[in-house]
Amino acid sequence: MLDKIDILKKEVSGCVIVTIEELEDFRLKYLSKKGLLSQLLKDFKTIPTDQKKLVGQKINELKQYAFQFYTSAQTKLNDKKSSAPSIDYTMPPEPLKTGSRHPISIVRKEIFTIFSRIGFTVSEGPEIEDDWHVFSGLNFPKEHPARDMQDTFFINKDPDHLLRTHTSSVQIRVMEASSPPIRKIFPGRVFRNEAISARSHCIFHQVEGLYIDTNVSFADLKQTLLYFSKEFFGPSTQILLRPSFFPFTEPSAELDISCSICGGSGCTVCKYTGFVEILGCGMVDPYVLEASNIDSEIYTGFAFGMGIERITMLKYQINDIRYFFENDIRFLNQFS
Ligand code: DAH
Repeated sequence: MLDKIDILKKEVSGCVIVTIEELEDFRLKYLSKKGLLSQLLKDFKTIPTDQKKLVGQKINELKQYAFQFYTSAQTKLNDKKSSAPSIDYTMPPEPLKTGSRHPISIVRKEIFTIFSRIGFTVSEGPEIEDDWHVFSGLNFPKEHPARDMQDTFFINKDPDHLLRTHTSSVQIRVMEASSPPIRKIFPGRVFRNEAISARSHCIFHQVEGLYIDTNVSFADLKQTLLYFSKEFFGPSTQILLRPSFFPFTEPSAELDISCSICGGSGCTVCKYTGFVEILGCGMVDPYVLEASNIDSEIYTGFAFGMGIERITMLKYQINDIRYFFENDIRFLNQFS
């Protein structure tokens, strides 16, 4: 029995453990219930009583030795594992989340596409403007309320340095810089000193249209706007032109479309009228043509201007203009 114990101890001390599998083999072979140490304890029962004390002691020593051997091999293996790099370079990468276009960009692009089909091209003008391009060149009288500090952001209170309140200013720039025929749209940001609410904001986007040539009539304006309305809001859209007033157009009108929410039957958006206003328009006032050096005896033209947020809200049934500026991805994700 004592010999057997000695042989086992030598065997254990000669074991080499470098992998988890070898560690487990060791455990099964020596330390498990059916292992060699358990076997030894079973044999122990059969030996004569006078030998029990010595043999028992030897078995205990062997047991302790084997357990220590096991735990130290286990600790070494664990240390090795934790110092290994934790990144698996063979893993496929996580797919990158792509963003989506802002609804205003989507709609602006759609407006370009619709007007480009009938020969309009795009121009842009500055956001910081002077009085001439925003007001005087557009025939705004000196005492017009839009010139008031309440409505317009002036820079350093200088009456000749201001943030444009509409994209109509680009009309003047384009007429000054080119000669007819002119067939253009001008998109851009505009600024108004207004309280921010669900319906209005101090910054928003407009797109302006200008068409100047010989023999341009109000019928051309009407047909262009009917075409746009049907393309943008759907083929069943109806339009309604109401007489209005703008200093730079004569005659002037406002354009309503049949309500895109209720289809014209009446709802809170159209205030039960079946129609909603989307833009202002008119025939360019001869004064404005002349002020930009275009001969009003030869040329006539029409202009229109609309808020991009407004038509986007109608098209996508968005009830608060502030969503466009908050960049909440829960809102923006819906346009991907
Ligand atoms: N500039 C006007 C506004 O901001 C909109 C407008 C009205 C533009 C009539 C035009 C026009 O070109 O002819 O309210």
